Amino acid sequence: MAEWSIAAVLKTAGPQGPGGSNPSLSAISSPGMKCPLMPFPNSKDLFDIPDFERAAKAVMSPMAWAYVAGAAADEITLRWNHEAYEHLRLAARALVDVSKIDTRVTLLGRELAYPILLAPTAYQKLAHPDGELATVKGANSAEATMVVSTMSTVSMEDIASSATTPLWFQLYVQPDQAFTQDLVARAEAAGYQALVVTVDTPVLGPRYQELRAGFTLPAGIERANLRGRATSTGSHRPTEATIYSQTLDSRLTWKDIDWLRSITKLPVLLKGIQNPDDADKAAQSGVAGIIVSNHGARNLDTSPATIDVLPRVIAKVGGKTPVLVDGGIRRGTDVLKALALGASAVLIGRPYIYGLAVDGANGVASVVNILRRELESAMALCGRTSIPSIDSSVIWK
Ligand code: FNR
Repeated sequence: MAEWSIAAVLKTAGPQGPGGSNPSLSAISSPGMKCPLMPFPNSKDLFDIPDFERAAKAVMSPMAWAYVAGAAADEITLRWNHEAYEHLRLAARALVDVSKIDTRVTLLGRELAYPILLAPTAYQKLAHPDGELATVKGANSAEATMVVSTMSTVSMEDIASSATTPLWFQLYVQPDQAFTQDLVARAEAAGYQALVVTVDTPVLGPRYQELRAGFTLPAGIERANLRGRATSTGSHRPTEATIYSQTLDSRLTWKDIDWLRSITKLPVLLKGIQNPDDADKAAQSGVAGIIVSNHGARNLDTSPATIDVLPRVIAKVGGKTPVLVDGGIRRGTDVLKALALGASAVLIGRPYIYGLAVDGANGVASVVNILRRELESAMALCGRTSIPSIDSSVIWK
């Protein structure tokens, strides 16, 4: 192929597609894979999230693709997470003046331009050599709030020094309590505005795509926040003899959440609430917010789609604490449906990683901007001009 063309990439859409000019992708490609040196596709030729997904599959190494796109076991919840949105219908409205659409929301006392955040995702240098630095630049240009993973491949301080946009820090509580405390103190010192504690991963789910692809962090890519510790490189998978991972604390309980709240001034949100009873406990414990999430279906397969869980959580805690949701959001109409069912905001994971893989910072910004435009369009067609005007009557019953 002498010249890159979007049509060719979309047709190829597989591991034999172009490898891109991305050195870290070439380094982690499988030995037999052809990696012609080609520029990244121009993300201006990609129109929606499925376009980005197909293009990303074509430029990513099979191992990176398996890590990002894969999920737990039979990947049934992965399918449900998006499919459940397809089963919700929207109620169009006519003859409403929608000449101005305002997507601003206030979250944790701060105004956001729109209610779509970047979910924490680990190991972004697998998708692009600049990893989280490219993502934060994309987030800056799209004015998106970025939630930075404990397992980032650029340190939280270096990401913060490139950010003009608000950052939240996602915490995986570590088995070593003093080290956890140190991570929290570093996030505060670097100017992170909230702490997102992931509570859905006492152990990792069985992720067979990853296992089959032999996932391990390639040389030169590290868990930058864990630098100097034995767990900063290599595989995050437990050995075959156990389900436990060295980088996750499987003893985490509600008392640790109280402890975390006692050691930080930052608002603490719990990410990975999937049970209305847990939502109730979280609201009673006084956390600043909860994120209904099943970790992008990467842990407990056959747990329900998050958008199916959301109404039950809202029934328990709506109005008491902000409830955010992630998982399966691929369209602006999905965002509208989540807001209609009571979410204060949503997060996206894989979609912006696809943008990152395809076109670095520009790709991240393009993905976010596509979803923003789709949300605005859906709001207008449903006769809603502001986020507070979105309620359950947006859903066709
Ligand atoms: C994740 N997710 C995740 N969550 C978290 O709390 N800490 C992390 O480090 C990661 N890492 C991670 C890596 C990758 C490659 C993916 C796809 C996901 C879960 C993530 O925050 C979010 O919950 C899901 O990605 C949302 O689902 P969608 O948007 O990917 O369907």
